[in-house]
Amino acid sequence: MQLPGWLRNRWRRWRNAKLLDPLVQRKLSGFWLTRRRARREAAETFDLVAGFVYSQVLLACHRLGVLTQLRDGPMPHSQLLSNLELPPAAGLTLLRAAAALDLLESDESNADEVTWWLGVKGAALLGNAGALAMIEHHAVLYRDLVDPVALLRAPRGSSELAQYWPYATADAPARAAPQQIGAYTTLMAASQGLVADEILDAYDFSRHRRILDIGGGDGTFLRHVRERAPQAQLVLFDLPAVAAEAGRRFAAASGVECVGGDFARDALPSGADLITLVRILHDHDDELAKSLLHRAAAALTPGGCLLVAEPLAGTPRAMRMGNAYFGLYLWAMGSGRARTAEELSAWLRDAGLIEIEERATRIPLQTRLIVARRAR
Ligand SMILES: C[S@@+](CC[C@H](N)C(=O)[O-])C[C@H]1O[C@@H](n2cnc3c(N)ncnc32)[C@H](O)[C@@H]1O
Repeated sequence: MQLPGWLRNRWRRWRNAKLLDPLVQRKLSGFWLTRRRARREAAETFDLVAGFVYSQVLLACHRLGVLTQLRDGPMPHSQLLSNLELPPAAGLTLLRAAAALDLLESDESNADEVTWWLGVKGAALLGNAGALAMIEHHAVLYRDLVDPVALLRAPRGSSELAQYWPYATADAPARAAPQQIGAYTTLMAASQGLVADEILDAYDFSRHRRILDIGGGDGTFLRHVRERAPQAQLVLFDLPAVAAEAGRRFAAASGVECVGGDFARDALPSGADLITLVRILHDHDDELAKSLLHRAAAALTPGGCLLVAEPLAGTPRAMRMGNAYFGLYLWAMGSGRARTAEELSAWLRDAGLIEIEERATRIPLQTRLIVARRAR
């Protein structure tokens, strides 16, 4: 049951007044009934304060190859240190920091020398090429975020990240040259593997005849689709320089059509009974995102399906990802925002689609999936 608004506001006023008082904070952290909660809140608040430091520990480990060194098994401290080419005290500081973040684990059973292992998070990250690519890529975002107030006050799109994603702010994105699309296309391909499996496990592609992937990048997603739906004709639509790169990657005999164009202006390829928008809508402002949904719906054959896959705001147990991470990331990039499933579903309805439903994915943080159908 939700409290009425006025009561909630009274509660907020009372609660905040109490929390602002250091004496009350001391009492809460000492009283047996509130102690656990107070400690948890303190740790979470500290993580908020220290988050940037943690990210930089991760970046240092990644750049120095700490995780890769331990891929095949544990390593004695002296050997790992000498491989890192860091002064001993600095290396030890980094390794201890990494262990505190569960990137590494130390085995101290040998009194002579500590042995380092991959930790739970280190092993999971090392097995995730997309996450590793994002760690390096975040160096660009963090340069923009060094002064977050300046970033928020500056005209949107004047950041370094906006240069990385030129289509977000360009008046004529279709004119992007190959050297402008190369870095982001490689990054997207590196992070596509896990997203593709999430989508393909949640939705059956094998019943479709012709599948159009709008904003399909270098075709990594469609290559995964082909394994599950070998019978389907595949069409990729992206900016001309990206579609040309995708065309080069598909073997000439593959039968995959790669069409270059601007989805804000140009006609979309017709005849598809499934259209996919994978990590596309969140990059664009509302007007363009809504009009793309209308145009995609119109391009479908009657009875065909539209599939939207991307991380969403309001994702349970990943609430920070939507409005905090993507909020700032997409702000710096120059356009777009993360939307909720409810918002996107309403837009799909406005585009004339029916039977709109969300399909569960295993890791909603990575991607969520909404499917809609065009009436026959
Ligand atoms: C974030 S990437 C996603 C790529 C791919 N779907 C994936 O998930 O890996 C967005 C893609 O949309 C393409 N794109 C952006 N604006 C576009 C436009 N106006 N017309 C056509 N493609 C566009 C980009 O070139 C890029 O390949």
